[in-house]
Amino acid sequence: MCGIVGYVGKKRVVPVILEGLKRLEYRGYDSAGVAYLENNSLVKYRCEGKLANLEAMMDEAYLSPSHIGIGHTRWATHGAPTEDNAHPHSDSTGKLVIVHNGIIENYYSLREELKAKGHTFSSETDTEVLVHLIESFLEKDLVLAVRQALELVDGSYAIGVFWSEMPDTLVAARNQSPLVLGVHDEIGSFMASDIPALLPYTKRVVFLEDGDLAVITEKGNTVFSIHTGEQVERKETVIEWNAAMAEKAGFRHFMLKEIFEQPQAITNTVSGRINPETGEINIPEINLSGDELAAVKRIFLVACGTSWHAALVAKYWIEKWARVPVEVDIASEFRYRNLLVDENVLTIAISQSGETADTLAGIRLAKELGSKVLTICNVVGSTMTREADGTIYTHAGPEIGVASTKAFTSQLAALFLFALFLAERKNTVDAEKRIELAKALIDIGPTIEKELPVIQEQIASLIESFYDCRDFLFIGRGLNFPIALEGALKLKEISYIHAEGYAAGELKHGPIALIDKEMPILSLVPKDSVYQKVISNVEEIKARQGRIILIGSRGDTQLSTLTDDVIYLPVIAEEMNPILYTIPAQLLSYEIAARRGCDVDQPRNLAKSVTVE
Ligand code: M6R
Repeated sequence: MCGIVGYVGKKRVVPVILEGLKRLEYRGYDSAGVAYLENNSLVKYRCEGKLANLEAMMDEAYLSPSHIGIGHTRWATHGAPTEDNAHPHSDSTGKLVIVHNGIIENYYSLREELKAKGHTFSSETDTEVLVHLIESFLEKDLVLAVRQALELVDGSYAIGVFWSEMPDTLVAARNQSPLVLGVHDEIGSFMASDIPALLPYTKRVVFLEDGDLAVITEKGNTVFSIHTGEQVERKETVIEWNAAMAEKAGFRHFMLKEIFEQPQAITNTVSGRINPETGEINIPEINLSGDELAAVKRIFLVACGTSWHAALVAKYWIEKWARVPVEVDIASEFRYRNLLVDENVLTIAISQSGETADTLAGIRLAKELGSKVLTICNVVGSTMTREADGTIYTHAGPEIGVASTKAFTSQLAALFLFALFLAERKNTVDAEKRIELAKALIDIGPTIEKELPVIQEQIASLIESFYDCRDFLFIGRGLNFPIALEGALKLKEISYIHAEGYAAGELKHGPIALIDKEMPILSLVPKDSVYQKVISNVEEIKARQGRIILIGSRGDTQLSTLTDDVIYLPVIAEEMNPILYTIPAQLLSYEIAARRGCDVDQPRNLAKSVTVE
């Protein structure tokens, strides 16, 4: 969603802000803007579309001596992505300026009240209402005016504000929308909606919490409570990621780079957490005692999008190995149904970003109902990790492509670890089996490493036949049914081809009506316990002349009798198939989207971190 960058310090502000905004492009946006102070006057540039348009307008601004400013990439909510609606927005005096992520839910009534007092508005945004509201309280003390305005606001926000009458100070505040401060002893202070914007300058960060307001100067930051005005302590964290990790390293797209980073990402997730001799799992950050885990009677897995698919796979693993019933919920549904959650339930939120608004709301609700909450997350210090009782970090490194790839497979690895961990605590798996399963998990990263170029070559031969299809079906059974869903999501989000995933057995209950000689159906058919069942489904498709693509086991001679389009994968432990079979589904989607000339890393209308409901 929207991105925020703010800076005050010794460097020229415009290059710092534009560089930061570039590093947030992956979040998805449709207009952009920058404001800074020069000779005590506010200078503002805004435009529709991509940052390149803004940069083209700002040639001279690059050389501005200004040392304080804010910038924004906007993902439109209230009002179209036009220049007028782009942030930063200023007040009636033109001296006060704001950038904002989130939604001011009561903006309409606030705007009517402000209009009645003589304020005029030049945009359709909720944000412009907020800057006028601050103006209405502003006499001498900016911090007080921001606090007074925020007390009247319903909704979510991360804001950056400055005022030409206080030329050395940025004010930041957050409620339900992420905001992080960057600290550097020599060059000054930063604020951003997400860590990658800070990485070229500093790894020292302070995560703001809901209800925090920060006063930021070149010398550092001080954090206060919006509601009481009292100072609060927020500790500094050092981020392990570096700036190079958030660059393309010679790959055509971040997505392709991240597909190829999966062996390392999975290995990072599991390493140091498994004893290969005994199969014992060690995850101290889980922060739940053996007794607490042994007492768990039911598990709710809560997530959105791709992370929800990881939850669907995990249900099979946890129920099979730890023998605990698991319910899987889409977070936006979970938060609005009558939940049977209590202290016997463990809720696990799965989120690569740790900021997804619906999943976060799910965590809060589950806690209120007495459940312990665990999160599986990739972003250190993100809101979910701070609110959950415990976290299993995936350690996949920064994921920049909007389509989730390495974050997904490392979530699967973390969830398998958890299933084994719980099985150990519940004593539901004997030592021999535990060692076998742990070994399968350790081996999957290296297997993918070896297979990636082989898969890529096989995929290449399919692209010309399938890149211009209008529709696509993906089918799988058992552990691979969620991978069919994930394959379809990946294809539709980056190539804009309409794609659906189905449990193979469901085909004859409706979707089979779609099959004709135009319709491609990709079936996941590893030699596993449901192999024969899926093959029967494929026969039904063949009988109706569907265009079949099979992803199956090397050495399975039956597959080539069903279609010419087969991708072969090695035979591995059945439990690890969902991780392995994800790879060709990702690569096929990627190559089709690239062949169609789509903006693979920043697909239209999508955002990397969905911080609004
Ligand atoms: O950060 P999260 O894992 O909570 O994000 C959830 C979804 O928004 C995300 O997986 C989305 O579906 C991706 N675009 C999938 O590629």
